Amino acid sequence: MKNILITGGAGFIGSHLVRLMVNKYPHYNIINLDKLTYAGNLENLKDIEDSPNYKFIKGDICDTALIPKLLRDNKIDGIIHLAAESHVDRSIKDPFAFANTNVIGTLNLLQSAKNYWGEAGKEGFEGKLFYHVSTDEVYGSLEQEGTFFTEDTKYDPHSPYSASKAASDHFVRAFHDTYGLPVVISNCSNNYGSFQFPEKLIPLFINNICNNRALPVYGKGENVRDWLYVEDHAVAIDLIFHKGKTGDTYNIGGFNEWRNIDLIKVMIKTVDRLLGRPQGSSDSLITYVTDRAGHDLRYAIDSTKLNKELGWSPSLQFEEGLEKTVRWYLDNKEWMERVTSGDYQAYYEQMYNR
Ligand code: NAD
Ligand code: DAU
Repeated sequence: MKNILITGGAGFIGSHLVRLMVNKYPHYNIINLDKLTYAGNLENLKDIEDSPNYKFIKGDICDTALIPKLLRDNKIDGIIHLAAESHVDRSIKDPFAFANTNVIGTLNLLQSAKNYWGEAGKEGFEGKLFYHVSTDEVYGSLEQEGTFFTEDTKYDPHSPYSASKAASDHFVRAFHDTYGLPVVISNCSNNYGSFQFPEKLIPLFINNICNNRALPVYGKGENVRDWLYVEDHAVAIDLIFHKGKTGDTYNIGGFNEWRNIDLIKVMIKTVDRLLGRPQGSSDSLITYVTDRAGHDLRYAIDSTKLNKELGWSPSLQFEEGLEKTVRWYLDNKEWMERVTSGDYQAYYEQMYNR
């Protein structure tokens, strides 16, 4: 495959994937389509923006005129689809935005790919692939320790975000089963690392600790998330894109569960140490606030299939990854300042006082 469309490449995970693909495959043309919503930031890709095998197109995946033309003009052979509205709290405030981008946008991409690749009949699908990047949140919430989401876990989404991702996954499988479109889906756990928009737990809290601002812990802080370093996710996507079985689903996760409050205490210790503050000086920033509506208790991914079939495993221990991540945000204060504009803060405040 030569011409690869990556959607949402200016976002957090997308920018890491674009960087990996541009650098690793100089013989591929990597086309990054992104609407540049509040979460899209071309500064995330400064280091590769002049690469001869990279092109950026600003556009909306819901645009029914743009997508078919883009696929044809760029002779796209493979699509890796990450563009989405991705923040659960925003989905509670504005579910329609999530249905539009995550469901209708995915459907538009599927239909456009089917029409373009299928022009020459079913043979046109040979060597083509539609890779849909999804989330573990579609599986719902786990109660007990020791149980995991596998690829066979029944879908049970609870937030408008996860419902929209579940709907998009169903459409992807429907296009495979009905039209024979070559697809693959991966469902990944919580990512952390550089370039994550500071509305998500880890960058928000690192930034707040640095600025002596309150750390809003939802509920009792007992919810559990399974954290994976973002570059390990990008490596897994590359592997599945090239070696995954068409029609299959792969779970991606690092067997790395943390209760929110325990993770927050490690973040506080790490930031204080790296800033040379006395240990414990930021502990009082912890502020328990009203819980997120429909807050899933626990996510935990079983990624045995990906490990056994394709040999993937995470490269970093969590302590090492978190330290690297904290250092990155401390070393890139300008990036943080530019993304935390007044507008964004106002929007966040409003959500926060719900
Ligand atoms: P993000 O919010 O950081 O980035 C999303 C990107 O999509 C942004 O660049 C944004 O501008 C773009 N976008 C949004 N709407 C668009 C539209 N209509 N048309 C074109 N571009 C649009 O998200 P992320 O955290 O990088 O997540 C990327 C994908 O991975 C999403 O599909 C998400 O569901 C999935 N995922 C995320 C995580 C995680 O922990 N962040 C874990 C598992 C799966
Ligand atoms: O599991 C994968 C998912 O992980 C992705 O599909 C989503 O796109 C991504 O946003 C993430 O969802 P979460 O809701 O788990 O991530 P978030 O960073 O918003 O929250 C992590 C946990 O921390 C969650 O239990 C809620 C809690 N939290 C979050 C924020 C922002 C707080 O206690 N306080 C906060 O201010």
